[in-house]
Amino acid sequence: MTILVTGGSGYIGSHTVLALQEAGHDVVVMDNLSNSSEESLRRVAQLSGKPVPFHQVDLTDPEGLDRLFSAYDFTAVIHFAGLKAVGESASIPLEYYYRNVAGTINLLRAMDAHDVRSIVFSSSATVYGEHNPIPYIEKMEIGASNPYGRTKEQIEDILSDLSAADERWSVALLRYFNPVGAHPSGLIGEDPQGIPNNLVPYIAQVAVGRREKLMVFGGDYDTPDGTCLRDYIHVVDLAEGHLAALNHIASRTGAFRWNLGSGRGSSVLEVLKSFEQAVGRPLPYEITGRRQGDLPAFWADPSSALADLGWSTTRSLDEMCEDHWRWQKNNPNGYAS
Ligand code: WQD
Repeated sequence: MTILVTGGSGYIGSHTVLALQEAGHDVVVMDNLSNSSEESLRRVAQLSGKPVPFHQVDLTDPEGLDRLFSAYDFTAVIHFAGLKAVGESASIPLEYYYRNVAGTINLLRAMDAHDVRSIVFSSSATVYGEHNPIPYIEKMEIGASNPYGRTKEQIEDILSDLSAADERWSVALLRYFNPVGAHPSGLIGEDPQGIPNNLVPYIAQVAVGRREKLMVFGGDYDTPDGTCLRDYIHVVDLAEGHLAALNHIASRTGAFRWNLGSGRGSSVLEVLKSFEQAVGRPLPYEITGRRQGDLPAFWADPSSALADLGWSTTRSLDEMCEDHWRWQKNNPNGYAS
């Protein structure tokens, strides 16, 4: 199968491109490089021994998309490309709706025009919003509480409506929890631009000396150690979940949705401790005030992915931290190193 991966030079995208190639698929990547580097694809090719055809195309460029779909005979699309910072989305919502929602509509129109109607979409646990009980289950009512999450929810609705209207479409909606870690080679990993929003890349930059200390956003939550609980998932487990979903929809039509998570919650201090073990020394931190919008705790019920796809996470929090640290230690400045 020839798979188009949008956003394929990014963190999760590059790990998924590698997993696809290792599974024998031909892969083509499109990305606008606004938040990633082409270096990641050079390293993927080094690991797989296969070239990764790359095209710098923006989802907001319908002509560019048409040229790309005319150049290849794609079997399916895995769609990662989009803006993804919760906080930023509240300050520039129009940009988020334009790039994420309008961009995806452009992609779907290009797919339909070229008879490509199989898509795996990168959604997020953020769609569950603030009012659902944990663990989150796919059939729950969703209702995101920020513009970023609402773009994911709207794209899920567009894809569900499209597959209901046209039975030729096969759709997998994958709701990620908290992806962390890196390929065990240490050659590819997460390379956030600027100050990391997320916990583990921030801890990694403290460990490698780029940040002074970790600020723990709140130590007075109603949780065992007072810090928030999240469902962390190894990025290689996540990539394998995409292959399982792609294989599942290859022989089915309709829309399907799965949580990709471990089913367990880990606290901020537990993650810090695990990372310290990987680094081999204590790391400086300070417990400060809560971050606006954070929920005390959430994690996945991953049972439907296991039942339908035969997929579950296999890598532990310690492995996530060991692999993340190897990448950061070998690449102190990410791909710019
Ligand atoms: C995890 C915990 C923070 C940084 C976000 C998005 C979600 C998804 C994953 C895109 C929280 C605490 C963090 C720091 C800290 N992204 N923290 N100090 O907020 O669960 O999810 O990223 O799909 O959509 O919402 O992840 O890593 O930002 O935070 O104490 O410097 O770590 O308060 O409790 P989050 P996170």
